Amino acid sequence: MPESINISFLYQEYGNLKELADDDRDLVLTARKAADNAYAPYSLYRVGAAVRLGSGRIVHGSNVENAAFPSGICAERNVFATVVSSYPCEKPDTVAITAFNEDGSIAEDVSPCGNCRQVMAEEEMRTGSKIRIILDGRDKIRIIESASHLLPLQFSRNNLTLRNP
Ligand code: THU
Repeated sequence: MPESINISFLYQEYGNLKELADDDRDLVLTARKAADNAYAPYSLYRVGAAVRLGSGRIVHGSNVENAAFPSGICAERNVFATVVSSYPCEKPDTVAITAFNEDGSIAEDVSPCGNCRQVMAEEEMRTGSKIRIILDGRDKIRIIESASHLLPLQFSRNNLTLRNP
């Protein structure tokens, strides 16, 4: 008989930005500002992401689209590419992600795509440290304690048996 395995996780849900700790609220506001720099002429969906590093430094990014659609990049992968390439010795503590609709209103919900989940999971592995994720939606703000929660049964370096770094 097969065994049924349950995978679940808890996250915190807030109804209002004011309920967040000061540093988390600031991070969300930075992500919202970063969305202003989105280059999203095709989807008109402007995403901003801000990462707080262990040192307190804040790095931000936005989505950058391309007429050759697959050449575009999400805000989260953009910001983590900056983190890894510019601050390789730092550990990201928290990332805030937000998005705006075509009419400039804050998106009802924001959720990282599968590619971005994979990249954030890799970053947790690389640094050996959990990354908190703040999802800034119109009516609710979710805080998830680790990127790995968003990618159960993830593919990782542990699956590569040869030349593990
Ligand atoms: N997008 C992000 O920036 N992050 C995500 O996690 C999901 C989607 C972007 C990609 C594209 O520029 C636009 O949102 C619509 O998919």
